Amino acid sequence: MPTSPRPSKTEAIIRITTLTKTYWNGAVAIPAVQGVDLTVRPGEFIALMGPSGSGKSTLMNLLAFLDAPSSGSYWFAGNNITDFSEDYLADLRNSVLGFVFQQFHLLPRTTALDNVALPLLYTGVKRKQARLRAAELLQKVGLGDRVYHRPNELSGGQQQRVSIARALVNNPMVLFCDEPTGNLDTKTSGDIMKLISQLHHEGKTIIMVTHAEEIADYAERRVQLRDGKIVQS
Ligand SMILES: Nc1ncnc2c1ncn2[C@@H]1O[C@H](COP(=O)(O)OP(=O)(O)OP(=O)(O)O)[C@@H](O)[C@H]1O
Ligand SMILES: [Mg+2]
Repeated sequence: MPTSPRPSKTEAIIRITTLTKTYWNGAVAIPAVQGVDLTVRPGEFIALMGPSGSGKSTLMNLLAFLDAPSSGSYWFAGNNITDFSEDYLADLRNSVLGFVFQQFHLLPRTTALDNVALPLLYTGVKRKQARLRAAELLQKVGLGDRVYHRPNELSGGQQQRVSIARALVNNPMVLFCDEPTGNLDTKTSGDIMKLISQLHHEGKTIIMVTHAEEIADYAERRVQLRDGKIVQS
């Protein structure tokens, strides 16, 4: 397990310089991310925006070490991680990043409590302790009375709350949200965004991909992508 570097208040959590990602379709190059510079400071809440195909998911995958860049540099909490091994990055990802997806990605036959506790079990925490922490987080996201429900016994908004609790269980340094309200109605979207805003006000660093202006309004900073380049930040 890698040590989890925690940056000081002033140090950037994320700094990338001239980062590129080129996909190859046979001999045809697809420059999905083209020389992007970005600095994310502790506690920032960023909305990553741009038209379909502009590179949002590709950039988020690079920022979350889910994919390796073709060129450029990436510092996470002051460490140049560009040359770290895939295994090391996978461990680092599990210990310092949290993810919330449009599709929730909860285990269907597992209670809310165990869905949230599971990432802790992977890091070696004992089941009883993991469940205590999971219960605490479900309480925090407003589901204290739903801990033994399975995903199909919960509404969409409640399922997304479970997935937010799961994303927080390791106390991540950065929370990545990919269209977190994409599957929810307007009222429920507002409730989920209030919860994400609350996490921001508590000091969490958040990077959120969204198409929607009204969802981006909750963020304090917008990063606009077009054709794989940042056009506004
Ligand atoms: N695995 C891949 N192989 C080849 N090309 C890819 C791959 N993934 C993405 N691309 C291409 O890279 C470009 C950026 O795609 P990306 O998925 O990052 O866009 P996006 O901004 O997330 O779009 P959307 O809003 O539709 O989700 C697109 O031209 C896409 O076709
Ligand atoms: Mg995308």
